[in-house]
Amino acid sequence: GGASTPKRGAFILLEGVDRCGKTTQVSLLVKHLLSLSIATVALRFPDRTTQVGGLINEYLQSSVQTDDRAIHLLFSANRWEAAPNLVNTLTSGTNIICDRYAYSGVAFTSAKRAEDRSSMSGGELSLDWCMSPDVGLPAPDAVIFLDLDQDQAESRGGYGGERYEKKELQIRVRQRFAELQAIDEKQGRVPWHVVDAAQSIEEVKEQIAKIVTDTIDRVQSESAPLRRMWG
Ligand code: TMP
Repeated sequence: GGASTPKRGAFILLEGVDRCGKTTQVSLLVKHLLSLSIATVALRFPDRTTQVGGLINEYLQSSVQTDDRAIHLLFSANRWEAAPNLVNTLTSGTNIICDRYAYSGVAFTSAKRAEDRSSMSGGELSLDWCMSPDVGLPAPDAVIFLDLDQDQAESRGGYGGERYEKKELQIRVRQRFAELQAIDEKQGRVPWHVVDAAQSIEEVKEQIAKIVTDTIDRVQSESAPLRRMWG
């Protein structure tokens, strides 16, 4: 390419336990970036609008027993089916702010136990098993983890009625996220930024906005290549 090759967009991921305020922050952030004329789109997983996403939605809203591995692979498939479009968006110079991704996939499945399900497997599914279907997906340029302990999450009005919105499971999910953070920090590729989600919406918003503008600057000034997950 010549001098006019456009810089790619940054892929910024927000992760966290249920009720941490991710969805609110993603929409505030996209509005903020657009107001600065920075091309940005929001993505979220699961993307319930596709056929695969429809199956995931049915699963989350029902109590029908389905094998945990089969469901895990559907969540991963839901990311893979979005990946070509995700890469094209970044290549065209648009930034992506994403609400959940492979880290949620691994954290939730690996946190399940026999009492949360009824499948062939007795024990918990290992992190390695859970990570493998997502290996090779486009990797984010930064993970922003909105951290909130379970008492604070509950004090926000309790969980909704979906399958995973139970306190004991959510406590284990938060531990799994910490393990995934440690793996990324050991690999030294995907930087994590932990933000205290117990602060006010405005404070959280300001901290996130700073991380995001720094990440966009870094990706552009270094012409950083898009990496692959856990490769
Ligand atoms: P949502 O509330 O952000 O729409 O996510 C729905 C639930 O799905 C939430 O409890 C997290 C869970 N989840 C997984 O179990 N695996 C995944 O891969 C993703 C993206 C979400």
